[in-house]
Amino acid sequence: MLAHVPDHVHELPTPALVVEREALEGNLAAMSAALPGARLRPHVKAHKTTALAELQAGAGHLNFTCATPLEMEGMARAGLGDDLLLANEVVDDDRLSRLARLDGRVTIAVDSDATIDAAARNGIREVIIDVNVGLPRCGCDPGDAGRLADVARTRGLAVRGVMGYEGHAVGVEDRPTRVEQTATAMEALVKAHADVGGDLVSAGGTGTFDINTWATEIQAGSYLLMDAAYDKLSMPFRPALSIVATVISVSPGWAVADCGLKALGMDHGNPNVAGGTVWYCSDEHVVFSPDAEPLDVGDRVRVFPAHIDPTIAYHERMHIVDGDRVVDTYAVDLRGW
Ligand SMILES: Cc1ncc(COP(=O)(O)O)c(C=O)c1O
Repeated sequence: MLAHVPDHVHELPTPALVVEREALEGNLAAMSAALPGARLRPHVKAHKTTALAELQAGAGHLNFTCATPLEMEGMARAGLGDDLLLANEVVDDDRLSRLARLDGRVTIAVDSDATIDAAARNGIREVIIDVNVGLPRCGCDPGDAGRLADVARTRGLAVRGVMGYEGHAVGVEDRPTRVEQTATAMEALVKAHADVGGDLVSAGGTGTFDINTWATEIQAGSYLLMDAAYDKLSMPFRPALSIVATVISVSPGWAVADCGLKALGMDHGNPNVAGGTVWYCSDEHVVFSPDAEPLDVGDRVRVFPAHIDPTIAYHERMHIVDGDRVVDTYAVDLRGW
């Protein structure tokens, strides 16, 4: 951690992750109003920060989704282990047996005989059947979900229900298409649920938070801080996270700031720079043309990442700001696997 955290944004060593307090609180409240309590199972992979998960718990969401064993362990250690769902497959004996010993309720996604075997032999007690609903990633064939649930129960595991992430739909800009793709995906999940049983139908993301009415709980995470990719979808959430960068070089027609590929998740495209048009990023640089005012070396700019999850994973801390005042600093303490 920084020995001394400056009080002012202009004094932060850059690149620095900053979160606008007002936008953060607005996003938190908007989602809690739409999906109160257990209707939302916030995905902590988006922010990897127990201090933000505590805010979500304070808003009434006590059940969480995680993507890595380390996120599960960190959440339990922080006292946020009421009901943790690892929405991801794991076969590592060491990690699974550690998860089985956590102080908290632990549920693991399984989508094959091998992942069920790994969970059972390492003392995991509860699983959820992960169903492929159209995103070519993890998840069993919907027609195999009932059989896998039987196998799990035979191995002594409690089956809490099904999960199926419609990741191919969440970012579709055209809303009618997003609605149609979500409906098709959830039809498959609901059918699988009929074969599996259990209380949970866990699905959804920020882009389908108000569309996915089939799931019993929505696994949205990005809504809290938002990013440039999701901001195109006209949702009631505002970009709250940006990176403060310093202009380190100026040439006729363009400027360069110290926020490049190693400080930014780029899989959803270039970031936006406030007051400029981005040309490209290289390892340690964002190159952009200023919209109006010529910039000077030493000026500060705000860079808005296209994808927050991998962006945050590059940083050790985030600063909560009220205008230009730094009001708090949180450790990004759930990084790693
Ligand atoms: C399993 C799972 N559930 C839910 C989400 C939703 O997250 P977001 O809020 O970013 O749409 C993701 C994102 O990748 C995911 O992998």
